[in-house]
Amino acid sequence: MNTTHTSYMSTIRTLYSLELHTFFLLLLVCPLLLFLLLLVVKSQKRWCNCAICTAYVTSSWASDYPNLCDWLTDLLRQSPTHTIHIHVLGNIITANPDNVEHMLRRNFQNYPKGKPFSAILGDLLGQGIFNADGESWHFQRKMAAVELNAASVRNFTVHIVSSEISNRLLPLLDSIAIDNSELPDGEVIDLQDVFRRFAFDVMCKVSFGLDPGCLELSLPVSEFAKAFDTASMLSARRGAAAFPFIWKAKRLFNIGSERELKRAIQMVNSLANEVIRQRKNLGFASTHDLLSRFMGSVQDDKYLRDIVISFMLAGRDTVASTLTLFFLQLSKHTRVKNSIREEQERIGSCEKLSNMQYLQAALYESMRLYPPVQFDSKFCLENDTLADGTFVRKGTRVTYHCYAMGRMEEVWGKDWAEFRPERWIRDDGKFSFFPESAFECPIFHAGPRECIGKQMSLMEMKAVVAAVIKRFDIEVLNGNSPKFALGLTACLNGGLLVQVRRRIQTKQ
Ligand code: HEM
Ligand SMILES: *[C@@H]1O[C@H](CO)[C@@H](O)[C@H](O)[C@H]1NC(C)=O
Ligand SMILES: *[C@@H]1O[C@H](CO)[C@@H](O)[C@H](O)[C@H]1NC(C)=O
Repeated sequence: MNTTHTSYMSTIRTLYSLELHTFFLLLLVCPLLLFLLLLVVKSQKRWCNCAICTAYVTSSWASDYPNLCDWLTDLLRQSPTHTIHIHVLGNIITANPDNVEHMLRRNFQNYPKGKPFSAILGDLLGQGIFNADGESWHFQRKMAAVELNAASVRNFTVHIVSSEISNRLLPLLDSIAIDNSELPDGEVIDLQDVFRRFAFDVMCKVSFGLDPGCLELSLPVSEFAKAFDTASMLSARRGAAAFPFIWKAKRLFNIGSERELKRAIQMVNSLANEVIRQRKNLGFASTHDLLSRFMGSVQDDKYLRDIVISFMLAGRDTVASTLTLFFLQLSKHTRVKNSIREEQERIGSCEKLSNMQYLQAALYESMRLYPPVQFDSKFCLENDTLADGTFVRKGTRVTYHCYAMGRMEEVWGKDWAEFRPERWIRDDGKFSFFPESAFECPIFHAGPRECIGKQMSLMEMKAVVAAVIKRFDIEVLNGNSPKFALGLTACLNGGLLVQVRRRIQTKQ
């Protein structure tokens, strides 16, 4: 009796204190809510009912176009200067190569990544190169460029890629492949998922010297990979939000997606810290992974973590995206596939990847139509005027749209929509880089912040394509016009479902 009574009293007391809590919370929250309301009202200043802004806000474009990027491409094509302004977003978007050269090279200092960008990705990337401007960027850039180009590190990455291909990727495909004569009732696999796991393994080994074993059939996807996926997906969602104050408020109260993001980032951090600790104990003089290399000159563990996490993000999804869309295109262009195989037979051993000019041209052609980084934004520091005369007010977000740029008739000719690797080959049979300049097709960015992983990724992608098409035919089951999922890189909604056919009997 007595015990029931005390428990009853304590329940009352708990309820009472809960009430008090709520009350104080409300007191605390009210000014914040008011503040947020003010922010909304302030952002309404940018309200605009021009045709483009209305279509954007109401998403009415979606009834005519499969993807946002397709709609923007049409708008950019119609604009005489190939530049548009989405007023409600405070965002100038351009597909004009002169403007791109202006912002990425000529007036580089005036177009940093800027605060809004570092706010979006700051929690995940910290001070890493991808998210840094000024001194910190310059330091990491110089150091990483030297490292990635060192012969010993190059050899290290080639070795990682080839062992991941022969020990994991090929056995995985082989285990589900059917023979040429069999009916098409083999296993269906999501090739995009396979490439994401592959690229994750490779980047983990290159960045940390750590093998997460994502492609190991028997293992579930590593906790690290899962946390990393969640973190980058949720960060991308922040970037697409029309009203940034909403995610900022959610972060403040640690609720919903922001709570999930925080947890994922904590997971990434604890794993990264663990690896850093282990590395420090092991000593690092003899290893070639980026972490070990940076350890020589960076003492701060948090900064070390930031540096390698940026590389993970930069080098993983981009490669997986290119490979996925490449195999999608290849399934529709048997002629190109046969030409790559002919080149392979002509050259002989797979070791001579750098000689496979046609394969490189085919990869570029695929990235022209489906760049992994579809658009890229900077923030204007001081009032400026672009090459085409567009006035840019201080603080405006300026975006170049790589996807649209690969689809401009003026640059690529009437047959811009065709998948034709030959357009990248000069008369003397050599691969020619860009028709005019990198600014016409900034797949890897251009200017002082051009991608540092370009050579490495080309080596990696060529190695994968060469190894796979030598042994298998990939039949795509959902190859209609691609629909992209929201993310930092172009990722197919629903993946790439394929069946794998063995070309030659491999003895294994
Ligand atoms: C197909 C593969 C790839 C594509 C299309 C690509 C594309 C890009 C683009 C567009 C940027 C500029 C991003 C921005 O300004 O926000 C960039 C930057 C960067 N990429 Fe890549 N990338 C690829 C692979 C890689 C790989 C494998 C690595 C790692 C070794 C890498 C490392 C980086 C780094 C560190 C930066 C930042 C450079 C800086 O800010 O100075 N990328 N890349
Ligand atoms: C490249 O790396 C492999 C494996 O790590 C090693 O056996 C080989 O000697 C290296 N070659 C050069 C030229 O450094
Ligand atoms: C930037 O341009 C705006 C709009 O024309 C103008 O009001 C402002 O004074 C300019 N700022 C500077 C620093 O020139």
